[in-house]
Amino acid sequence: MNTVHLTVNGEPCRADVAGRTQLAELLRDHLHLTGTHLGCEHGVCGACTVLVDGRPIRSCITYAQACEGANVVTVEGLGDDPIGRALRDAFARHHALQCGFCTPGMLITAWDVVNRLAPTDEADIRRELSGNLCRCTGYMGLVAAVRDVARQRRGMAASEGRGALAPTAAGDEPSAPTAPSPIAFEPFEIDPIHLHGAEPVSTTGAPEATARPMTQVEGWTLVEREFVIEHPVEALWTLFEDVPRVAPCLPGVHNIESVGPNRFTGRAEIRFGPVAASFHGEGTRETDAGGRTGVIAGHGSDRRGHASLEAELRYAMSGAMPGEDAPEAGPRTRVDLAIRFRIQGGLAQFNRADLVESFTDVMLAEFAGNCERALAGEEVRAAPGASGFALLWRMIRARLGF
Ligand code: FES
Ligand code: FES
Repeated sequence: MNTVHLTVNGEPCRADVAGRTQLAELLRDHLHLTGTHLGCEHGVCGACTVLVDGRPIRSCITYAQACEGANVVTVEGLGDDPIGRALRDAFARHHALQCGFCTPGMLITAWDVVNRLAPTDEADIRRELSGNLCRCTGYMGLVAAVRDVARQRRGMAASEGRGALAPTAAGDEPSAPTAPSPIAFEPFEIDPIHLHGAEPVSTTGAPEATARPMTQVEGWTLVEREFVIEHPVEALWTLFEDVPRVAPCLPGVHNIESVGPNRFTGRAEIRFGPVAASFHGEGTRETDAGGRTGVIAGHGSDRRGHASLEAELRYAMSGAMPGEDAPEAGPRTRVDLAIRFRIQGGLAQFNRADLVESFTDVMLAEFAGNCERALAGEEVRAAPGASGFALLWRMIRARLGF
């Protein structure tokens, strides 16, 4: 058993949990917060969605112990929140629930959508809600309710003279969509990577990713992340240069073969709840050893699922300084990632912000942990196949591993 400390709906709490205890179990069975519903338990339906540090995640596929120190908000925690109240009123006004099973997850996702984007266009709202399934199929009321609240929020922001939507209470400061970013993407042409230079990064212990909200531009999904590895930049660069060695660090990537100095082929297994796909594809890689940057681009298709993906990953490495909390730490490497991809076909339904971001973080943690193991001369961990990981992040790793 492990002891995990969390803040749930503003209340500090601690619980002893097994390694495989999911956050949803902790919330429902230990804390009796049964407003968080469990439907598929495979990360597909969205009924179990809660906010963790201000971002929606699937609590059925999130380990409780991975939430150490996190700020969790469940549907119960939206009680006094202004957006939560407005959403509940709008759901009632627009008959946005029938049996109510999906409603807690819908409310959490709607809170995130309104707080982060406040979209008023129906297509945008439908896309943002597409990761939450309503088996009663009451989507028209849901969309109307979210649009109402988004309009109210935009109206409030305008009347207060705010150009951007500011985050509100129910989480840990979700970033506004206009947050500055060190890596800039253009819709179809990717700008060069801009790094923070030698800015200190104070990450200690297990590799940890820093997240920025994903965006979607003309069919492309754009994700940016950064993480720190506890090894010198030269060592990590050498690992990244060795495609057959770094590929197994990406769970699900198999059979990577070089077919030229900068070309390779490979296969990526993707399992997302009941959906499994095997993408075969090819890619190219360009690197700049002087600047410690690289670009991996590729495309693949899954014949069974009639799905295809295109993706591009840019990475940049720089020496990171020891953090204030660990001044004695050895050399570190900061890695900035900028990823864009698009999925077409049957799997495109998973191209939803909270799915992408949850899975990105899960897969990035796996990848970074495996890089640490590889650099320490240890065996990398095989892909966890049982519970479902991010389709979209699989793209990312397919990207890295092609
Ligand atoms: Fe978690 Fe369905 S119960 S996504
Ligand atoms: Fe019944 Fe959505 S209201 S599942």
